[in-house]
Parts: sequence; structure tokens; C-alpha cells
Amino acid sequence: MNQASCVRFLHQKELEHVLTKIDDIRALDEIARFAPPGWSFRPVTCNGTSVCLLKEAGVLKRTHSCGSEHIIMRPTVVDVAKHLKCEANQRRTSKRRVAQTMERWFHQEFVKGLRQFGEFRVFIVTAKDITATRGRKGKVIEVVHTLELADRELVVTVLSSCASFPGPTETHQGIHIQQVKHFAFYAFETLRSRSDWFTVFESLEVGARIDVGVTMSGDVAQPFINEVTRIYEADFFAEWLAQPGTYVSSAVSTALAEVFIAATDS
Ligand SMILES: Nc1ncnc2c1ncn2[C@@H]1O[C@H](COP(=O)(O)OP(=O)(O)OP(=O)(O)O)[C@@H](O)[C@H]1O
Ligand SMILES: [Mg+2]
Repeated sequence: MNQASCVRFLHQKELEHVLTKIDDIRALDEIARFAPPGWSFRPVTCNGTSVCLLKEAGVLKRTHSCGSEHIIMRPTVVDVAKHLKCEANQRRTSKRRVAQTMERWFHQEFVKGLRQFGEFRVFIVTAKDITATRGRKGKVIEVVHTLELADRELVVTVLSSCASFPGPTETHQGIHIQQVKHFAFYAFETLRSRSDWFTVFESLEVGARIDVGVTMSGDVAQPFINEVTRIYEADFFAEWLAQPGTYVSSAVSTALAEVFIAATDS
């Protein structure tokens, strides 16, 4: 490979999109508006800077953060006043202070199901398909379930293709892994088909880990995306996979080579 064929992965714009979080959340809000019935739930997210969309504290989150480092599940009045600038807080916050820091706090509706039922980490990697978008199509290659316990220990389970999760009551149908997979695949391909795919979702040409939560609060379970974890930073939970636990990473490296090296060499 000569120098002219070097590409940057991720592009700066996509990296900024990921770090600010809220732009990804808005893209997910948009695709949920046009999603099939049952797939349109989104937690309300207020960017914390203008008129409040939430009217309650909810869960406080911060940009430029990962590993749950800046998540405040039960914010106090002091946390809200210190971090959020929407509505009443706006007047008390000096514009200078906002401008000085790149990190921003925002808040989101508390989703009970995310704590109670954990997250489904759906690994999607693309493969060649001449009939699909730009000649590639995502394929779900693994689903790992994670549940954070009260002491913050993470319980990790690799799910079989017939796993299902019961709902909170006897009449509630709960959710089946196939529903989670279909939903994640739909969201993945819809993000790839957006007009801004090249600037902010280009890494999905290789794959992504779609982190799916479920709300069981209505009569039926509704999946929603908590995060689109870019493949370069996704924990593959390798030690929990069938050993040697490298099939997710091999699929990713094959896709990376096909998308970037083949494209630049031709
Ligand atoms: N709106 C919410 N309602 C309830 N719980 C939430 C909410 N948002 C986040 N959480 C809890 O906090 C955890 C981490 O949230 P999130 O994935 O958004 O943050 P993160 O800093 O990107 O963390 P990570 O790197 O571990 O993914 C979730 O798995 C969930 O348990
Ligand atoms: Mg997360």
C-alpha cells in the first residue's frame, strides 16, 4: 500500500459526532419517528442548554465520556443546578463558563427497563452483497446480554438464538432475541441509508455494536437503541465468546480490509 492510499478511520466529523453523543441521539430520534409500529419508542433527551424538553431531572449524562463514568442515575438538586443549563438554570450560568469547557451535560428520561433488563449488545458486521446499499449488507453475528447489578458488577451472557426475556407480568409477552436482532438490523441499515452516512456514520460500512435497551412499561416490549457503539471502540466481550473468542474480531478485520484496503488499492 503506498502513501496515497492511506485513509483515516474514523473521520474527524464522525469522531466528534460520537463524542458529543447528543448528535447520535438526535439521529436515532429521527429514525424512530419513521420506524414500523412497536419500534418508535425513544427516551426523551434534553440537551440541557435551552428550553427543557424533559421537565424532570431523569438521568444526567455527559459528552466526551464512556464506561458509565459520567452517568448520574439519581441526580440531586445540586447536581441539576451545577450541570444543566436549561430553563431556570440558564440565567444562573455564565456564558463564559459554558464556552470554556468542551464537555457538556445533558439529561434523559429514566427508562426502568434499561436498569431492570440490561442491554443487548448486537454485533453487526457487513459483508459483500451486490443488491445492498453500496454493495454491502449488515449481518448480526453475535448478541451478548449485559446486566449491571446494584454493586456495579456486570453480568455478561452470550445469548442463544432462541433466548427470550419474559415481561414484568404474566400477560406481558416480553421480548425474544429475534425481535432484538431484527430491530438492531433495521436501525443499522437505516443509519447507513441516511444522507449524512459518509460524514458521521461511515464506520458502519464495516459494522457496529448496536446497544439495545427494552422498555416493558406498556402492554408490549419496545426495543430502543441506547447507543451506536462504533466498532473500533466496541468491547467484543471476547472472553465470554466461544473460544478462542476471535470470530467477531476476524469478521471485523475482513470487513475493514474489504471496505478500506480494497477500495484504496483499486
Ligand atoms: N435513560 C436511562 N435510564 C435508565 N438507565 C440508564 C439511562 N441511561 C443510562 N442508563 C444506565 O447507565 C448505563 C450506561 O449508560 P450509557 O451507555 O448511556 O453510558 P456510557 O458512559 O456510554 O457507558 P458505557 O461506556 O458503559 O456504554 C446503562 O447501561 C444503564 O444501566
Ligand atoms: Mg453504553
